[in-house]
Amino acid sequence: MIDTNILGLGDAEFLLSQLPEKSVHLIFTSPPYFNARPECCQYDDYMSYLKKMQNVILCCRRVLSEGRYFILNSSPVIIPRSKRNRSSKRLGIPFDLHQIIVDAGFDFIDDVIWVKPEGAGCGRGRDFARYRTPLHYKTVPITEYVMVYRKHTDKLLDWNIRNHPNQEAVMRSKIDGDYEKTNVWKIPPATKSYHPAPFPLALAERIIRYYSIENDVVLDPFAGSGTTGTAAALWNRKFILIEKKEEYFHQMRRDFRLIAHPIQFLSTESGGDDE
Ligand SMILES: C[S@@+](CC[C@H](N)C(=O)[O-])C[C@H]1O[C@@H](n2cnc3c(N)ncnc32)[C@H](O)[C@@H]1O
Repeated sequence: MIDTNILGLGDAEFLLSQLPEKSVHLIFTSPPYFNARPECCQYDDYMSYLKKMQNVILCCRRVLSEGRYFILNSSPVIIPRSKRNRSSKRLGIPFDLHQIIVDAGFDFIDDVIWVKPEGAGCGRGRDFARYRTPLHYKTVPITEYVMVYRKHTDKLLDWNIRNHPNQEAVMRSKIDGDYEKTNVWKIPPATKSYHPAPFPLALAERIIRYYSIENDVVLDPFAGSGTTGTAAALWNRKFILIEKKEEYFHQMRRDFRLIAHPIQFLSTESGGDDE
């Protein structure tokens, strides 16, 4: 059983293999959007990206407890045109990852559409706006997907709740008052981060409150600026955050010193130390 927060510096596939089986209660993550953010990572081609995601997803399955949730935020990305006379290409990342996740042993539960305010989109659709000719039409995307999966089990959710070792924590975790009833969630994007692609804290908080119980261990294997960890700490859950880029890891380490302890550190080089 894991009883501290953990910050891991290194490759998710490697560090996840160091964690005990079934030691995590919720996974919420936003993997790299293929090569959309070259400052984060670069893959040789889309197939190597999908293969890497498959390896990490299989590791996630191993560390997740029976019947608990694996939740992934992603969206299609555009590969810019290589020449003026070539079309750009759009990759349906969430749709390609879906089958990989199901084949890895997860049941599909929900597709939440995260809607950002108009104006948050990119400059897509400019040709249509100018010429108004049919066939030129393209939307300006202001949505991302938050895909919800449950680790396969024959047991009902009631089994997870009834067998939880701390029934007081279950009672304390109840969601009082208003809550989101549909699969369309309107949340402004994150602003002000040193990271190029953070998701909003409000999104992470909602996921953690709806899909985990107090004291649970919440994992984000592609942690970036650690938004999942911040939300976990705010709602009395423990976190495991893995990030391979040193700059983001060290910034998280500084940030979390103020809001969460104890923290154990893991890295590809060492067995880990505490703070
Ligand atoms: C989309 S960002 C996540 C942003 C995060 N949700 C936040 O709120 O800041 C994906 C992150 O995964 C990291 N990453 C990419 N490949 C990785 C790998 N193999 N292992 C661990 N982290 C990786 C990137 O450096 C990047 O920071």
